[in-house]
Parts: sequence; structure tokens; C-alpha cells
Amino acid sequence: MSEIAKLELNGTTYELPVIEGTENEKGIDIGKLRGSTGGYITIDPGFKNTGSTKSAITYLDGENGILRYRGYSIEELAEKASFLEVAYLVIYGELPTTEQNEVFTHSITNHTLVHEDMKQFFEAYPAKAHPMGVLSSMVCSLSTFYPESLDQDRDEEAIDLTIHRLIAKLPTLAAWSYKNSMRHPVVYPQNDLDYCENFLSMMFAMPTSEYKVDRTVVTALNKLLILHADHEQNCSTSTVRLVGSSHANLYASISAGISALWGPLHGGANQAVIEMLEQIHNDGGDVDKWVAKAKDKSDSFRLMGFGHRVYKNFDPRATIIKVACDDVLDKMGVDDPLLAIAKKLEKVALEDEYFKARNLYPNVDFYSGIIYKAIGIPTEMFTVMFSIGRLPGWIAQWKEMRENNEPIGRPRQIYTGYNVRDYVSIEKR
Ligand code: SDX
Repeated sequence: MSEIAKLELNGTTYELPVIEGTENEKGIDIGKLRGSTGGYITIDPGFKNTGSTKSAITYLDGENGILRYRGYSIEELAEKASFLEVAYLVIYGELPTTEQNEVFTHSITNHTLVHEDMKQFFEAYPAKAHPMGVLSSMVCSLSTFYPESLDQDRDEEAIDLTIHRLIAKLPTLAAWSYKNSMRHPVVYPQNDLDYCENFLSMMFAMPTSEYKVDRTVVTALNKLLILHADHEQNCSTSTVRLVGSSHANLYASISAGISALWGPLHGGANQAVIEMLEQIHNDGGDVDKWVAKAKDKSDSFRLMGFGHRVYKNFDPRATIIKVACDDVLDKMGVDDPLLAIAKKLEKVALEDEYFKARNLYPNVDFYSGIIYKAIGIPTEMFTVMFSIGRLPGWIAQWKEMRENNEPIGRPRQIYTGYNVRDYVSIEKR
């Protein structure tokens, strides 16, 4: 017998159905609220208490620090799977068989090139262009080279081709935006390299020298991309779903997701963490001073990489990345003073009543930037790395929304402006 919620309003009792998910999460269905109550709606800025959809892709439990893609724990996937395997799992719902993995990988490998005309777009950007602005524009521009993809209701085969093109080309677009910012010639993808190796080669190879693949770096990058693959209805994923709900094509929807991820409160936090650690380092490394600033309401400073809308004990991704961080820096012989500051900052904050009372713990962005820095990724490219990792999740959520025939997203509001008033001629104002 499913539960019923009762709402008492002006002497009338309204019964609202309760839906329950496979992990016993419960939601009060208000789908008929406005009609049955004569116009009442709910309001929840930031959607802290509001579910936008039912989804079978990712399950996370913020209280217990659990994160699973299609039922598989991120701990197992990060340790045992390749990023393309996880991308296939997130998008198509099951881990690929050997044959499916070969077909998928072959398709991705053979779509890594972007149209030569797009090189002119890169050359038109100033060297100091932020790569997230370039990436968002370039992804939307891909739609102009594949006009058939604009009819997003085409058959599944056409949509699969768009999915494979996006997963294949995003690393190429990302690496080329970096090469353009350095005013270096672009490096073309190599079909004999795996997904992560190919990205690193396009980033760091030069016409005068090949990129020497470092397995420690490739393993760390593979793990980082897997840990970013999806995260249920976060800001950028909700953006992708909302844009896609108007039946905009997948390129346009992903481009919007990249723009949403750019914000320093969201995916931009990994860049902001390093900038914060550098600021503390350059200021003499007085961690207590900066923790005090983060607690001071009159000070706009926040500890970037701390806190999370959902995780209220720990972000399981941060736990895995912290271990990987130690491993990568140790194997690469990197002694980064920022890591020491990060660890001291974490220790001080976790013992501080202000942070404990607000359940503020390191999130996925706190340590990832230190690994990216160690493997040579420039700070402004950190959120680009987040985009490459999150792409399969954005695609999967867009695809699920389409397959469920969800309606166009159009929230209501409570109006708080002027009541009706007459126009006043300019002479009388
Ligand atoms: C990501 O949603 C996702 O899943 C996102 C993500 C994903 O995978 O897609 O996990 C990726 O975006 C991770 C979060 C990266 N952002 C940052 O690290 C930026 C710093 N953190 C925040 O600004 C903040 O914690 C948020 C945005 C992450 C969450 O904000 P909420 O849930 O809206 O909480 P809030 O802003 O209402 O803060 C609650 C309290 C406030 O104090 P009081 O008003 O109660 O006194 O905690 C304080 C805040 O001032 N607070 C912080 C703080 N974060 C919250 N104080 C100091 N430093 C911080 N980082």
C-alpha cells in the first residue's frame, strides 16, 4: 500500500500520492497540485527539496557518501574499469560485452577528428580566451557541420552517431583550445592510442617531440574522468535536461551544460581551489587566517572545494582522489607545496565547529586540481577536464529524458512586482 501525503488548506484536505524509488527514496507527487487547489504552487529556490524527474542512471546517498552508476559503486569502477567502459555503462545502462566494447571504442577512435574548417574558429580566438568559453562555443558549432543532427527526433542510430561524435571530439576540441592559447600548432589524434593517452598526446606532444605516455598519469586521468562521469540532477545536468526538453539538439544541450559547469560554485571550483591555495601560499601559508576569513560573514571569501548541496558527511569521490593524489605525486616525484597547504586546510576545517555544524567537507574539486596540476594541465583547463568526464552523464540524462517523453520544463513563479498601473507620459514622470 503506497503512502499518501495529506495537505490541509482552507479547511480542505488534499491527498498527494507518494512515489518511492528502488533505494527507498520518497517523493510527494505535486503534479496535480495547482489544478486541485485552485492555483497553489510550491516554491523552493535552488530546488533544495524538489525532485525534477525519476532517473535510473545514478544513485547517490549524501548522508552516507554513496555514489553508484547504474548500480555499480564508483570505488569499483574507478579501480577496475576504463573511462569508455563507464561512458558506455552510464549511457546505455549496462557494462559493454567484449564485442560491444570493441565496436564502441572503434567508433569513438574513428570520430576524433574535427572538420578542418573549425581550425579557423580556434585561430580567431585571443590567446587569453578562457577554454570553457571556447569549448562551449565549439560544441554548439559542431551542430552546424552535422545539420542532420538538428532533427533530434531522428532514429536511434542517428542519435548514437551524435553521441559517439561528441565523446570522440570533445578531447580534440579541448586540446586544440589549449594549443591555440599557446599559439602552438595543433596535434592530431592518433588512432593507436587509447582515449586518455590520445588526449594527453594532443595536449603535450609537439611537432618536434612525441608525447611519452606515462602510465601513472594515464591511470590517474582515467580514474578522474570516471569519478566525474555523472552526478544525478546537479546544476549543469539539470541545464542539459532543461535545454533538451525544448527538443533542442544534443550539441546545443551539451554546450549549455558546459556553460553551467563553468561557474565557480559548480565545476569552476577546481580552478578556484588552486587559485585559493596559491593565494594562501603567496600570503605566507597562514591557513588559520584563511579559515577565519571563510567563517567571517562580512567576508565574501569561501573555502573553494568545501561543502556540497548533497554530501553532508564526505564526498566519496574526494576520498578516492585524495589517495590518487598522494600516489601520483609520489610516483612522479612532485613535491607540491599546495598539497601540504590543502591537507593542513582540510585538517583545520574538519576540526572547526563552523564547518562541522554546516557539514562542510572537501568535495570532488578539492584535490582534483592538484593532480591536474601535477600532470601538467594548466589551471584554466581544469573545468574543461571536468566537462570531458561529465559528458557521458550529460548525454545519458538527455537520452533518458527523451526516451521518457518528458514535457518541456517550465517552472512557475510567485509574482512580487507592481500591481496594475496606468502609463504616465514622459513629461509627467
Ligand atoms: C560541484 O551538485 C553537484 O552534484 C555538484 C558536483 C557535481 O559533481 O556535479 O558535485 C560538483 O559543483 C561540487 C561543489 C563545488 N563548489 C565549491 O567547492 C564552491 C564552494 N562551496 C559552496 O559555495 C557551497 O558549499 C555549495 C555551492 C557547494 C553548496 O551550497 P549550498 O548547498 O547552497 O549551501 P549554502 O550556500 O546554503 O551554505 C550553507 C552554509 C552557509 O552558512 P550559513 O548561512 O548557514 O551561516 O554553509 C556556508 C554558507 O555560508 N558555506 C560555506 C561554504 N559552503 C557553504 N562557508 C565557507 N566555505 C564554503 N565553501
